[in-house]
Amino acid sequence: TVDAERISFYIQFFSADGCDLSLFYHFLHLIHSQADLISIYYKFYHYLTSNANYLFYKNVFFYLTSAYEVTKIDSIKKCQLWQLILILEEKLMAKDIDWSNLGFGYIQTEKRYVSNFKDGAWDDGVLTEDATVTISECAGVLQYAQTIFEGMKAYTTEDGKIVVFRPDLNAARMADSARRLEMPPFPEDRFVDAIVKTVEANIDYVPPYGSGATLYIRPYMFGSNPVIGVKPASEYQFRVFCTPVGPYFKGGAKPIVIKVSDFDRAAPHGTGHIKAGLNYAMSLHAIVTAHEEGFAENMYLDAATRTKVEETGGANFIFITKDGKLVTPKSNSILPSITRRSIEYVAKEYLGLEVEEREVFFDEVKDFAECGLCGTAAVISPVGKINDHGKEICFPAGMEEMGPVTKKIYDTLTGIQMGRIEAPEGWLKVIK
Ligand code: PLP
Ligand code: COI
Repeated sequence: TVDAERISFYIQFFSADGCDLSLFYHFLHLIHSQADLISIYYKFYHYLTSNANYLFYKNVFFYLTSAYEVTKIDSIKKCQLWQLILILEEKLMAKDIDWSNLGFGYIQTEKRYVSNFKDGAWDDGVLTEDATVTISECAGVLQYAQTIFEGMKAYTTEDGKIVVFRPDLNAARMADSARRLEMPPFPEDRFVDAIVKTVEANIDYVPPYGSGATLYIRPYMFGSNPVIGVKPASEYQFRVFCTPVGPYFKGGAKPIVIKVSDFDRAAPHGTGHIKAGLNYAMSLHAIVTAHEEGFAENMYLDAATRTKVEETGGANFIFITKDGKLVTPKSNSILPSITRRSIEYVAKEYLGLEVEEREVFFDEVKDFAECGLCGTAAVISPVGKINDHGKEICFPAGMEEMGPVTKKIYDTLTGIQMGRIEAPEGWLKVIK
């Protein structure tokens, strides 16, 4: 999978001379495993091809060669550097995953976490290789959709650590979802522990830094015993699996076009504020319809008055006013997005922006300068146009790239997630 152009680039690169090995020792301590080596290599390959700061990266490749020897990862000692690169390239693809070209899909990984609730208590939980679930034909989840889930991501940071972004908030939200659906909350500390165990057990599936991919983590829980009268189950299963993913919307950071939906996502006093499978089941017809019409997502309005902006099927909205303020819709029937709450903090504390969380009337949407969707899967996806029954709202930021303020927020948020920018206390759970 190594193309000729890349090889000739390496040969050219390494045939230049005049290197300073001062960075070698600095990086050496970061190497603990083959996965680290690969991830660090990937990072520098990324910079190498984008920055062309040759001397610096030359040092790094010297470091890689030496690290190869020091860690005795392979028996190869003094191979030419470009040969080493080929070997590393091969290892990069060791999982047969082309990290840079992943979409948002399911790839089965090695282990997942399972814990069962029975007789009023959760058992100790285990990691298992069994990716299937066997339950009664009459299980509560199958009959009355008693199921909830969460979503978060693990990242390889710039200095080679593996971190998960704010899993404590997912733990708390999942407990809220559980209570709303009359399920026993999985203890929040055990939730975080289950995330750590699952990522640790699938560490080779955490995409390398700079690859554009991340490890998506999906905790979920469902009623597992037979239920035929409408009532909560008495037995539940909690599971966590993970899968490497790329961008949620095709095209990555390119602006998308969405439509105002004629369907409602959530009722006032309903379940819009929790992460229940039922909210997504009832959005399927709307999303299929939107896709058929050529739109990437739906903008849902409030069900009671259809005058206020709620959210999309899988992300909250952010808007930027013409004078650079961040505005986000406030509603009791949208999911309290962890990404959105983090963006509000980042906008205020890191970028000095004014932040308003308030009701947003659909009528005022045309006056915003920038619009975006935010969520774990969506990260921040810019919206270029909103189609309201044939009438287009085109944001001044356009269809070519993210608007400037959205971009600043995006760079800061992802900078924090990937360890390029110092994170607020407690935001990154370090796995390794
Ligand atoms: N809104 C909905 C309906 C979602 O499904 C998600 C995804 O989790 C979000 C918003 C974004 O939430 P978060 O940022 O916590 O992932
Ligand atoms: C997430 O962002 O984690 C979600 O659950 C959204 C879903 C539509 C993939």
